[in-house]
Amino acid sequence: MSSGQVDLIRVEDLRKAFGSAEAIKGVSFAVPESALVVIIGPSGCGKSTLLRCLNGLELLDSGRVRIGGVTLERHDGQFPRDLKTRLRGLRREVGMVFQSFNLFPHMTVLENVVKAPVAVKGMSRAQAEVVARALLAKVGLSDRLDYYPSQLSGGQQQRAAIARALAMSPEVMLYDEPTSSLDPTLVNEVLQIMRQLHDEGMTQVVVTHEMRFARDVADHILFMHEGLLVEAGPPAALFTAPRDPRTRDFLKSFL
Ligand SMILES: Nc1ncnc2c1ncn2[C@@H]1O[C@H](COP(=O)(O)OP(=O)(O)OP(=O)(O)O)[C@@H](O)[C@H]1O
Ligand SMILES: [Mg+2]
Repeated sequence: MSSGQVDLIRVEDLRKAFGSAEAIKGVSFAVPESALVVIIGPSGCGKSTLLRCLNGLELLDSGRVRIGGVTLERHDGQFPRDLKTRLRGLRREVGMVFQSFNLFPHMTVLENVVKAPVAVKGMSRAQAEVVARALLAKVGLSDRLDYYPSQLSGGQQQRAAIARALAMSPEVMLYDEPTSSLDPTLVNEVLQIMRQLHDEGMTQVVVTHEMRFARDVADHILFMHEGLLVEAGPPAALFTAPRDPRTRDFLKSFL
């Protein structure tokens, strides 16, 4: 997928194995700036591993990932010498939201969002608080600033986790099944935030099983199967006329 727009993410022939098990078997794709890309595929096909390689939580075995101005590549087993600097750069470019909300349990919602900009970016406490309050207002949590994560619903926790990731001003947001552990009645409030960020032009990559969201909001769908990117296309094409039998089989299970 590449039109005249600038690609904010470019992945080239990415491979990642765990021991002898190949989780990602050579995957390439690009994500234009401001696009929302949804990754779908059966359990174990490599979706989480792919996202984790994008933000350096897993180190790729070979291939190349470029996000914004940061490139991480590995040829013949060798990383560039400034690997640590590049990993730091990558993590600055990327905000990540996980299925389990991963908030700091001993900190209030406000503190959760304030912490990283102060600790990592060296932002002043006062400035970080202004940013945090604005982001928490955006995700509808202005009346929960002093609550602890355990006092929040799953949907509220996930919205706080999104605000926390946004506080680092990432170029890209990655989400790994952000609504999978939510009560069905709370799913929409989280999808709504991603929809709003999309309207504002945030570049987002979302692993999800929310097919309606994917169909209605995604600019592009990637279908993975056994470590391969099997089919990609706009939702209208991929959902109504999948070309690959593996895509058809997978989608059938959602009908
Ligand atoms: N840390 C690890 N050590 C060993 N194997 C791993 C590790 N992480 C993932 N794998 C393996 O890599 C493959 C891909 O796993 P991954 O978690 O990326 O799949 P997934 O598509 O996210 O699945 P799900 O939909 O269930 O979350 C699986 O076979 C898994 O067992
Ligand atoms: Mg996963």
